[in-house]
Parts: sequence; structure tokens; C-alpha cells
Amino acid sequence: MHNEIIVASSLSVRFNQQTVLDDVSFKVQKGEVFALLGGNGAGKSTTLKTFLGTVRPSTGKAEVLGMSVTKQIDNIRQKVAYLPESVTLYGHLSGIENISYFLSLAQISRTQTEIEQALTRVALQSSAWHRAMADYSKGMRQKVAIALALLREAPVLFLDEPTSGLDPNAIDEFNQLIATLAAEGTTVFMVTHDVYGACQIAHRIALLDQGKIVGMFERGEDSHIDTEVVHSAFSARNKR
Ligand SMILES: Nc1ncnc2c1ncn2[C@@H]1O[C@H](COP(=O)(O)OP(=O)(O)O)[C@@H](O)[C@H]1O
Ligand SMILES: [Mg+2]
Repeated sequence: MHNEIIVASSLSVRFNQQTVLDDVSFKVQKGEVFALLGGNGAGKSTTLKTFLGTVRPSTGKAEVLGMSVTKQIDNIRQKVAYLPESVTLYGHLSGIENISYFLSLAQISRTQTEIEQALTRVALQSSAWHRAMADYSKGMRQKVAIALALLREAPVLFLDEPTSGLDPNAIDEFNQLIATLAAEGTTVFMVTHDVYGACQIAHRIALLDQGKIVGMFERGEDSHIDTEVVHSAFSARNKR
């Protein structure tokens, strides 16, 4: 088994004449939490969309689980879970109904007990399980999406700005859950503009500026990445 779960290699993306990603290379290992950090317009979402197959590389390659985004995107989509910046799902359906619906679309059968175990794992309060998701908070909607990923046994999670709009308790809970999943072998790729959040959760941070990777930061054995160091690199780049 290969341990390089997500690979970008000399990846460039151009829209019309504009180069949005410029020769980006990185590898994310199994069980790693990798954060792509950058300001607005840096190219973070474009990178993420390249791995989901909604943006095509102009040159270079992008792979997930050893599969090419240009040749095997259907296989990739079956394996990965994607949490967009705002998880909506179906507001008129409950958390459990949404999960059942999306599992059936994916032709995966899980028992009611298994679904309840997943919701317990992500710590969604049971009083909400049968309530319409329309009045769930952002944190609760994310929990349902992660529970769905667990039930699909997705080995890779792609997250776009996962903690923006969460309150501090929800952020702590979210970070804890992601750390646990990563420790169990799930590979997590997140994009964010939040320096502090990235330092809290990531094993490695790549700093993206105007489509280029301009810095890479790695955590120590049992210490987080230094917020000060990353913050000064980030703000030096984003002072415009
Ligand atoms: N489909 C598209 N067509 C043309 N330009 C795009 C498209 N998507 C993104 N861009 C441009 O690419 C740049 C990077 O966008 P994006 O990846 O969304 O940045 P980020 O997520 O880091 O804020 C921006 O200048 C944006 O306007
Ligand atoms: Mg974005």
C-alpha cells in the first residue's frame, strides 16, 4: 500500500490568461492533517476542486489514493468525503434521514444502529437526530456530514474552511474529532485562511500565496506548529 494519499506534482491551473495555481507540489501522507493556508484568492479552493475533479489541471498532475484526477475521477469521488464551506444537506429532512438518503444514493447499506453509532461518535446530541436539519447550527450540520463520511468509510476528507463560523466550543470539538480520525488513519486535507486554527489542528501547513507555495511548516513530536512563526510569514505575504 502506498502511503502518499494526496499528491500534487508541478500542478498549474490557468483560467483564461490568469495563472491561479503555479507549479504547486506537495504530498500528504496517510493519517496526516494537512492544511493549505492562504489569503482570499490565493488559490486554495481551486486546489481543493482539482482533487475533486471540478477544476482541471492545466499542467502537472494531481492524484488521490494513487488515482489520477483526470483519468479516474469517478473512483476518487467514491472514496473521498468533501465538506464544503457551508454544509447544507436537505433542510426538510432530519440528520438521520439525510444520512440514510445519501447512503442509499451511494448504494451503501447501514443499519439504524450503525447510523446512531456514527452520530454518537461525532457527538451530535440525540435530541436533534430526528429533527429537520433546517434549524441545525453549522457545527451540527458538519457533524452530520462527518458521520456520513464515517459510514461511507471514506479514507480521505477534504474540508473547505471547516471552522469558519463555529463557536470556540464547536471548534474544539471539531479539532478533537479530526485529530481522532487522523490518528485512526484518515487523511485530512483542509484549506483555510485561519492561521490559529490551522496551527491547532495541522501536522503540516503549506502557505499558498498567489498560486504558489511559499512556505511549509511542520509540527513537532508533541507541539503544535508555532502560530507566531506562521502568522508573520502569512502577514508578510498578505500586506498589500
Ligand atoms: N472558474 C473560475 N474562472 C476564472 N477565475 C477563477 C475561477 N475560480 C477561481 N478563479 C480565480 O482564481 C483565483 C483563486 O481563487 P480561489 O481558489 O477561489 O481562492 P481562495 O479559495 O484561496 O480564496 C481568484 O483570483 C479567483 O477569482
Ligand atoms: Mg476559497
